[in-house]
Amino acid sequence: MRTAVLAFAAGAIVVGAHNPLQARQGASTQTSFAFSLATTDSTAIPLASIVSNAPSQATQTLRTTFAPGTIPTGVSGAPPLPNAALLVPSNYPALDVVVPTDSPEVQQWIKDVATSGFAIPNITQTVAGGCPANLQAAADTTRCWWTCGGCVNSTDIVSCPDPLTWGSTFDDGPAPYTPNLLQFLEENNLRTTFFEVGSRVISRPLITQYQYMTNHQIAVHTWSHPSLTTLTNEQIIGELGWSKKIIKDVIGVTPTHFRPPFGVDRVRAIAAAMNLKTVIWTRISPEATFDTDDFDLASGVSTPSEVLQNWDHIKDNATVLKTGFILLEHDLFQQSVDIATGYIYPDALAHQPPFKIQTVIECMHKPLNDAYIETNDNSTNPVASGGAPALSPGASGSAQATGGGSGNSSSSNGKSAATCVAPPLALVFTFVLTMAFF
Ligand SMILES: *[C@@H]1O[C@H](CO)[C@@H](O)[C@H](O)[C@H]1NC(C)=O
Ligand SMILES: *[C@@H]1O[C@H](CO)[C@@H](O)[C@H](O)[C@H]1NC(C)=O
Ligand SMILES: *[C@@H]1O[C@H](CO)[C@@H](O)[C@H](O)[C@H]1NC(C)=O
Ligand SMILES: *[C@@H]1O[C@H](CO)[C@@H](O)[C@H](O)[C@H]1NC(C)=O
Ligand SMILES: *[C@@H]1O[C@H](CO)[C@@H](O)[C@H](O)[C@H]1NC(C)=O
Repeated sequence: MRTAVLAFAAGAIVVGAHNPLQARQGASTQTSFAFSLATTDSTAIPLASIVSNAPSQATQTLRTTFAPGTIPTGVSGAPPLPNAALLVPSNYPALDVVVPTDSPEVQQWIKDVATSGFAIPNITQTVAGGCPANLQAAADTTRCWWTCGGCVNSTDIVSCPDPLTWGSTFDDGPAPYTPNLLQFLEENNLRTTFFEVGSRVISRPLITQYQYMTNHQIAVHTWSHPSLTTLTNEQIIGELGWSKKIIKDVIGVTPTHFRPPFGVDRVRAIAAAMNLKTVIWTRISPEATFDTDDFDLASGVSTPSEVLQNWDHIKDNATVLKTGFILLEHDLFQQSVDIATGYIYPDALAHQPPFKIQTVIECMHKPLNDAYIETNDNSTNPVASGGAPALSPGASGSAQATGGGSGNSSSSNGKSAATCVAPPLALVFTFVLTMAFF
């Protein structure tokens, strides 16, 4: 195994990212990089070839597809695999826009949340623009807004219990390069957790089926990837509900875990009321968050050197941490997949002491069955209970009570939701959609 010590000089770095959460890892001051990789893969795409704004590629081919009716072998008690060819897109919301709340489905989910026994805190919606645009909300500790300040609730999953265990996660797929990532993971006998966007699942259901059938964990990441805390409660319910539904319709089972785009506050209570456990990622300090910033490679907001520098810091922090960790990566773009498969994972696999790379559910010492409502026997992964009595509509803490006091998705706050997506993300979906049509 050879050691490659790579040093790069970088020019001006654009500040601003997919993730408006916190200062990126030294981004504004960093002018040079020095990181060491335990190994490099001779077949990896050269770093210099991982460039922003690369031309759109066709969806890569899966090794195989699974016939409808196949019984999963890794998830005991799971029903036969549904027939993805029978999906009718017109039965689902439009792609990549916040779901309407007036559909019978969403109206039913709103009722379910209202009678779930979970009290939804009366917390106003945030506005687009992240922490700088929401200073009062950011300072309000009762809101426990993870995005600005890193507040976590005891119910949030932010790490794996055992040192050196790594809850591997990829967000925003399934996407054109996801098959390449799957092939790499398979060759190395690795499993990961995919937090999937419903609009992507309905576009590439066979990829989600493949991931599920090969024992990766499928989890929810909303229907349209909005900045969740900017939405009304009803919109949040709709985003989670449709995302759960499309995944169930595609793989036959419903995820029990969820990752909130752009953070959580009251969102975690709504998720809990919908039987979804909230998973974030490890954050040691504002500077040391376990986010490689791989998302921003595609737009050029981050460079490959910067991502590997971030990884190098994360790796060193992870080595001395008293717990395991959860790392955020993305499979939405070719660049993020290339850097994961060519650099980050080969380096991680050669790391001493070794990392144990697992799905989030398994790093929590739970069987894969617990990842889905229909196969969860509630023994190792008990369903959270609200405890509180059911609330009537409009009562403080009910689903109808919050969201800037309006609780109406056609309110002005709700209207702003479509524009809440940070610019790089808006680009993403244009990009993905374009590819879906060609
Ligand atoms: C957050 O934590 C508090 C106290 O630990 C708990 O009472 C509350 O139910 C939690 N909120 C959610 C949404 O789980
Ligand atoms: C942890 O990460 C921070 C921020 O990237 C970095 O400055 C620090 O050196 C790292 N700690 C260790 C022990 O590597
Ligand atoms: C697990 O809990 C859910 C929700 O309360 C319930 O619907 C389901 O029947 C339970 N499963 C078992 C095997 O008890
Ligand atoms: C929710 O809080 C707002 C202030 O932030 C307040 O105006 C409103 O009356 C509260 N709603 C309920 C139902 O308590
Ligand atoms: C929601 O707000 C819109 C516009 O303010 C109004 O026309 C509509 O009746 C409201 N819907 C509900 C259910 O309150």
